[in-house]
Parts: sequence; structure tokens; C-alpha cells
Amino acid sequence: MEVFTAISQRCSIRAYKSTDVEEDKLKKVLEAGRLSPSASNRQDWKFIVVRNKETRKKLAKAAFGQSFIAEAPIVIVACETEPKAMLACGQAAHTVDVSIAFAYMILQAYELGLGTCWIGAFSEDEAKKILNVPNNIRVVGMTPLGYPNQPSSRKFRKSLNQIVCYEKYE
Ligand SMILES: Cc1cc2nc3c(=O)[nH]c(=O)nc-3n(C[C@H](O)[C@H](O)[C@H](O)COP(=O)(O)O)c2cc1C
Repeated sequence: MEVFTAISQRCSIRAYKSTDVEEDKLKKVLEAGRLSPSASNRQDWKFIVVRNKETRKKLAKAAFGQSFIAEAPIVIVACETEPKAMLACGQAAHTVDVSIAFAYMILQAYELGLGTCWIGAFSEDEAKKILNVPNNIRVVGMTPLGYPNQPSSRKFRKSLNQIVCYEKYE
């Protein structure tokens, strides 16, 4: 599959089959995160793979009741291990680095026929409690990982004209 095919056809999946995810597919998704770029190649991240059903249900509750999260056989939770690091441009490195890694993982999952849905609406405090994440570590996002139980949905996006300008900000 070409990268652009994955980019253009992937969509967020909010219904999952209970079918288990093969270990080699999970490994490939995790590898995509491992190989992704980070500022100064710091790789200050940790990905928690949750298969335990009760824990998945608790995570869905921490995500304000988004119950589809627990439908998938796996939930991956992305953490940043050096959250104080800043980029010279003033952005928090943890948000940028972990987001890139998660985006790579999500695209790799799509190529393998697996569904994902980036979850940003969750209580970080709750997620930390559930997963024993130390106070000084940030939880940036999570995604269910499993076989989709819904058709692909259409993408609604702004046009290039609306989001691109040339030479100067317009
Ligand atoms: C940072 C971020 C946080 C998101 N949080 C949620 C969420 O909590 N729940 C959810 O159902 N979708 C969430 N999404 C998915 C977006 O709603 C979705 O990506 C967007 O509507 C575009 O649709 P598509 O992914 O199908 O192309 C999130 C996406 C991003 C990038």
C-alpha cells in the first residue's frame, strides 16, 4: 500500500469486532512508533499495550464513556517520559514527538487492516491511576486497536486553498 493511499483512505473507527489482533501485526504497529522521528532523536516515549478487558473498560470510562474504546481487543496508550522538554520554537516536545509516533502507528495499523481512533478526550488523572503511570509522566493520547466493525466514512476536509498560502502568511 502506498503511503498516500493509507493517508487518504484511513478514517477513525468507532466500532470494533472482538476478533483478536495477531501478535505480529501488533508488533508492526509498535515498530512504526519506534522508528518514527523525534526532536534530537530523544525517543522519550512509552506505549502501554492494554489487552485486559477490565482495564479497557476503565479506560473507556476515563474517556468520558466512549464505550467503543473497550470493544477493541487492544488499547494503546501513548506516554511521554520527559514532559518538561521544550522545543526551541516554544512548543512542548512531548506533545509533538508522541503525536508523530502515534500518527505513524495509526497509518501502519490501517495498512494491516486494523482500525484505530485517536482519543484525546480523556481524564489524564484517571488514565494515570488506572495504568500506574507515575506523576511526572504525561499521557498524551490513546487509541483502540482492532478489526473495524463499520464501513469507512467519508472525509470532510478544508480545501487546499483554505489552508495553504505561499511566501507570506495570508
Ligand atoms: C488529537 C485528537 C484527538 C481526538 N479525540 C477523539 C476522541 O476523544 N474521540 C473520538 O471519537 N475521536 C477523536 N478524534 C478523532 C477525530 O474526531 C477525527 O480524526 C476527525 O474527526 C477526522 O476524522 P477521520 O479520523 O475519520 O479522518 C481525535 C483526533 C485527534 C487528532
